[in-house]
Amino acid sequence: MGVKEDLEVTVATLREAGCVAAEEEAAELIEAAAGDRGRLRALIDRRSAGEPLAWLIGSVQFCGETVVVHPGVYVPRWQSEPLALEALARLPEEGLAVDLCTGSGAIAVVLGRRRPSARVVATEIDHLAAACARANGVEVYEGDMAAGLPDELRGQVDVVASVVPYVPTGELHLLPRDVLAFEPRHALDGGEAGTRFLFQAAIEAAALLRAGGSLLLELGGDEASLLRPVLAENGYRDVELLVDDDGDVRALTCRR
Ligand SMILES: C[S@@+](CC[C@H](N)C(=O)[O-])C[C@H]1O[C@@H](n2cnc3c(N)ncnc32)[C@H](O)[C@@H]1O
Repeated sequence: MGVKEDLEVTVATLREAGCVAAEEEAAELIEAAAGDRGRLRALIDRRSAGEPLAWLIGSVQFCGETVVVHPGVYVPRWQSEPLALEALARLPEEGLAVDLCTGSGAIAVVLGRRRPSARVVATEIDHLAAACARANGVEVYEGDMAAGLPDELRGQVDVVASVVPYVPTGELHLLPRDVLAFEPRHALDGGEAGTRFLFQAAIEAAALLRAGGSLLLELGGDEASLLRPVLAENGYRDVELLVDDDGDVRALTCRR
């Protein structure tokens, strides 16, 4: 079989497995297999079983940056790109940013690469994800939310950006089957109302941010309304919502 046949067979197999972008994914799997047919077969089988493409090819594009994603680590979503870009717009050239719950480090990567003179640090509770973020060159502190960050950062931070787990526990079953089967539950489950980590991030970020510094949180559904009282109690102002093309709320921004 030649290159053309490899592509045809791969596309057909992926399409049969329900893959919507079969052509693009086939090309990426063939490239990742680097001419090894046994490896290509294994990659096709894993993808057909629903394993994230990023785990198979080892990376994903996020805001135009290549981000390494190790198997077992939450795959950065294109839906989070506007939040990352808004965080970038609010980060001064030599500023200080914190990415809470960094996962593979995608947001920190965008901030760090586009603001090379800024300091960008991140936190993560999962050792596997922290190792992945380090592989992307991110300065990661392992621990619960902001707990592991150095004390010297308190009151100094220009931007805190975060995609915490925010799916309400009772709605996890509505996620795509492959997401549920493969991606770690602790990256998704936001507790009963979905707001457990949003509240924690807002409260802990208040101690990190300088006056006028920005907090950006990805969220969904009615979580912005639930969060507002917590923001007010912790001295935040200028609350704004980031809304997608369908009119759905995707993130909240505010200043300290
Ligand atoms: C939805 S994922 C987002 C990852 C990354 N920010 C992104 O957008 O690709 C949430 C991440 O938070 C981490 N996490 C969950 N609970 C945490 C906690 N209490 N403190 C720090 N990180 C946590 C998970 O391991 C996961 O990597």
